[in-house]
Amino acid sequence: MDKFIIRGGTPLEGSIRISGAKNSALPCMAAAILTEDEVVLENIPDVRDIETERRLLASMGAEVELGYGRAHHRTRIRCAVLSDPVAKYEIVKTMRASSLVLGPLVARTGLARVAMPGGCAIGGRPIDLHIKGLQAMGAEIVQEHGYLEARASRLRGAHIVFDKITVTGTEDLLMAAVLADGETVMENCAREPEVTDLAALLTTMGARIEGAGSATIRVQGAEKLHGGRHRINPDRIEAGTFLIAGAITGGDITLTGCNPLHLSSVLGKLRECGVSIETTTDTIRVRGSQALRAADISTEEYPGFPTDMQAQFMALATQAQGASVVTENIFENRFMHVQELIRMGANIRVDGRIAIVQGRSPLSAAAVMASDLRASASLVLAALVAEGETIIDRVYHIDRGYERIEEKLRGVGAKIRRIGNVFRDSEAPAAAAVQ
Ligand code: EPZ
Repeated sequence: MDKFIIRGGTPLEGSIRISGAKNSALPCMAAAILTEDEVVLENIPDVRDIETERRLLASMGAEVELGYGRAHHRTRIRCAVLSDPVAKYEIVKTMRASSLVLGPLVARTGLARVAMPGGCAIGGRPIDLHIKGLQAMGAEIVQEHGYLEARASRLRGAHIVFDKITVTGTEDLLMAAVLADGETVMENCAREPEVTDLAALLTTMGARIEGAGSATIRVQGAEKLHGGRHRINPDRIEAGTFLIAGAITGGDITLTGCNPLHLSSVLGKLRECGVSIETTTDTIRVRGSQALRAADISTEEYPGFPTDMQAQFMALATQAQGASVVTENIFENRFMHVQELIRMGANIRVDGRIAIVQGRSPLSAAAVMASDLRASASLVLAALVAEGETIIDRVYHIDRGYERIEEKLRGVGAKIRRIGNVFRDSEAPAAAAVQ
């Protein structure tokens, strides 16, 4: 298993280009199931979860080409024939976002068999709201042997009100609704930019959608959709992670190819901590300060402070003067990074969904273990300021959602190197956590 070796203490300076958003690319790739024509997606990130999604679609009969060389970051997908509409457990267990194929498979073929994703490091991750919405649209759903089987001769439009705001639930049912018979109204939808990005692709494919990005989405179902070409949004969480790298090291980093409008809550919080932030339409410049101030965060659905930035912010809070109260409202177990940060010298006390970070704590290098994607990013950030050489094990978690993170960090002066066998996805450890 690959490890990172990181020597802390260097202020990071220079520019980093932001990759496409993993959490946009995954639903957009699944949307190709909805048509027999070719779908071309640009700005796809070169990360492990995308390779997993490629294998998943190919296992069902899709032709999926991930471009390299001049065609890097582009994928061409054609689901002319879906000979085996089954999302098998050995793939789903490594990436719970596989449940995103459920809605499009039922809508396109009238049948879907999807392995239940099971929980993961950060929580139970149920998909009951996906199921409830499909049932409201007329799907018959049976759960047995760890699989969900959904059948519908043709889904019908429905009025769906989500009990809880769910990002992939909104995306899954949006993809079901675009081929349903009649109108679907969905209320209490997720408003994340990834939902809006998916709706933009579906619209180029001929779908009729109103309200994506708001709490109420209205869809007029179509008989068929045609192919399309779409450029994926930049990754707002990758961008936020590198902003904190610049802030925590007291450096000066400019992010390019990003969208500051998708990061308003994070930029506001960093400014509250005393970090200098300057933006243009597609760049963000961050300059750290030696006098970081503590600030409280409470994770909320978009446009609130994103849960996917909570672990990274906590690393910054260890270096801020004063006590920061971190409240995790979205997932029930998203403090896996806390014990590892404490092993590096952080002063953090957890009480249920609240963690109190007492800064400023000098961090010292240690051998630490990555546990899930964003917790792992938090350890990288802490290692960038820890005294000495930190060893981070199980970095395949990071490779799931960050494209060549060590190269991007080295490009701005970080002392980081990867050791171990650089595996391809097929050799990834079976124990890879599901998220
Ligand atoms: C998406 O996961 C993201 N993944 C997650 O990013 C992100 O943390 C999360 O949204 C919240 O923003 C992708 O987009 C692929 P939810 P998702 O459904 O859709 C509960 C990362 O680090 N819930 O919005 O699975 C659920 O348990 C990953 O990139 C139900 O109860 O999250 C949670 O408490 C991690 N029933 C809350 O809703 C359901 O049917 C929000 O979950 C669905 C969800």
